[in-house]
Amino acid sequence: MNDTATTADSTAASAPDLAAVRVALIGAGNMGGPVGRAMLAAGVRPAHLRIANSTPASSERAAAELGATAAASRAEAVAEADVVVLGVKPYQILDLVAELRDELPAGTLVLSLAAGTTLARIEEALGGDCAAARAMPNTPIAVGEGAVGLMRGSAVTDAQHALLHALFARAGAVVDIIEQQVHAFIGAAGSLPAFVFTLIEAMTDEAVRLGLKRDLAATLVQQTVRGAATMLSESGTHPAVAKNAVSSPGGTTVQGLAALEREGVRAGVAAAMAAAAETSRAMSGD
Ligand SMILES: NC(=O)c1ccc[n+]([C@@H]2O[C@H](COP(=O)([O-])OP(=O)(O)OC[C@H]3O[C@@H](n4cnc5c(N)ncnc54)[C@H](OP(=O)(O)O)[C@@H]3O)[C@@H](O)[C@H]2O)c1
Repeated sequence: MNDTATTADSTAASAPDLAAVRVALIGAGNMGGPVGRAMLAAGVRPAHLRIANSTPASSERAAAELGATAAASRAEAVAEADVVVLGVKPYQILDLVAELRDELPAGTLVLSLAAGTTLARIEEALGGDCAAARAMPNTPIAVGEGAVGLMRGSAVTDAQHALLHALFARAGAVVDIIEQQVHAFIGAAGSLPAFVFTLIEAMTDEAVRLGLKRDLAATLVQQTVRGAATMLSESGTHPAVAKNAVSSPGGTTVQGLAALEREGVRAGVAAAMAAAAETSRAMSGD
């Protein structure tokens, strides 16, 4: 392993060789699974991505689904690992780290996906020989269009940090954040897909009520949401400018926009994001 780290340290500009990197994924569930898939897409070899779920049968199932390798035990998964990804529930993280700490090769990077458990607590449970980082992904990483916030622990080397970016290169937008920003990140990205799914569901239902067949309604709404987001990101246009450009005096769009504001959609969306961020803050004890 840590060959990769050494190489990247000495040649900061060169990309890490992911074909040589060994990853253990402890907990390949709703979030760990897509993270594993993104790492395979980025270039980790299937034989080098070893999965340990709560039972061997579950590990086999997840490995077959992802095209990775099942480990017989957590200890077997982490032996020789460069990166150990923890995809278990937040309440399990510290016990799992305490259980694994004596099994981890020195210099291993432990990457927690969990909300609410801080780097300081993970580092304390880990002891001195390994580095810890956190990644806050969202579910659209499953289609390469997600967002990932990376938080770097105090012992993470530049090479390990570059390795994390390389591992998530096919996940979507990958950004470095400081830990205090994670609550805002959860409101703005981690939990946001569920809010967008709800808005898409509401728009599709209304399109059906207005007379369109459901499959046509779903296609039109999804394409329009995707197209509107792509238009903003590709042009750099401010959303208010784009909105005003399609609002003719007394026309259909401006009447619809006025109804949207009267019904409090803007305040509702803000409240949902704030509730997610506040809950994250409470879980972290911040
Ligand atoms: N879901 C999201 O949108 C999201 C977003 C960002 C971060 N996260 C974080 O991702 C983490 C996982 O959440 P999730 O939604 O993916 O949960 P999940 O679907 O329930 O997955 C949990 C995984 O952990 C495994 N597991 C449970 N106990 C284990 C043990 N003792 N040893 C090894 N593996 C064990 C489970 O295996 P079995 O199936 O065999 O029980 C399962 O594969 C959480 O910490 C959460 O904060 C989730």
